Amino acid sequence: MGHLLTEDADGVRRITINRPDKLNALNSAVVAELEAAFVAAAGDPAVRAIVLTGSGEKAFVAGADIAEMSGLSPLEGAEFGRRGQRAFDRIENCGKPVIAAINGFALGGGCELALACHIRFASPNAKIGEPEVTLGLIPGWGGSQRFPRIVGQGRALEWILSGGMMDAAEAHRIGLVNRVVEQPKLVEEATAFAKKIASLAPVAVRFALECVLASSAMGIDDGQRLEATKFGLAFSTDDMKEGTKAFVEKRKPAYRGR
Ligand code: COA
Repeated sequence: MGHLLTEDADGVRRITINRPDKLNALNSAVVAELEAAFVAAAGDPAVRAIVLTGSGEKAFVAGADIAEMSGLSPLEGAEFGRRGQRAFDRIENCGKPVIAAINGFALGGGCELALACHIRFASPNAKIGEPEVTLGLIPGWGGSQRFPRIVGQGRALEWILSGGMMDAAEAHRIGLVNRVVEQPKLVEEATAFAKKIASLAPVAVRFALECVLASSAMGIDDGQRLEATKFGLAFSTDDMKEGTKAFVEKRKPAYRGR
């Protein structure tokens, strides 16, 4: 596809946003490609985990494309927002763990993209933030909802209202980023972590992911009912039988994703 590079190895699909001359800024075409890429990955049983990164050493994604946004009418702006939200929802709900490897600027739409991923690794040169208010805008691709869910309302407001950029150490300190990894090893470590997950029972991984994601939309009673249902359903899988049998037989399990 036009602005995306993809590479598959050992159950992990690596997707690289490749628009380095614009610091990988997301215009409508790239958003549409991203959505299609995640629909494809969701439907491909050979893909068990995904790593998402940006090309070059400077930017993950420097935001939504400001040049494109500058000419939009209010209705077009709303539609631009909805399309991005839909694409990022598809990422969050693709049923497979998505690890963002934040290799530099993750601003505005780039920060929101990282927030839609499930786990975030960042290089020390990462700069993360929601500078929309500095442009007379607000986060429009889910940032006002996901940011507070991940780091808490006070911290989300600190960054969203000021439009400031935090460095990797601060992002790690507040729990926005799971790990900080030196730039040359960032994608490699994110991929190694994804491969570890890819070696586990895919249905169980998906159920666990779905239950945790549901926790932000459900009360604890409904959430635990969902958990009990999925826990029970996991007993119907061949992989559960294989995993428990392998433990008893003191050998490594061979999971087949069913
Ligand atoms: N949308 C469109 N183009 C962008 C972009 C964005 N969000 N971010 C960077 N670019 C483009 C620049 O216009 C420039 O293009 P040009 O060479 O054709 O002029 C190119 O990417 C390189 O960016 P530049 O600004 O020259 O790099 P820098 O190192 O001086 O600054 C940033 C890096 C990230 C600080 C700066 O590009 C920036 O502030 N970008 C916008 C960040 C933002 O507000 N994002 C949120 C949008 S909602």
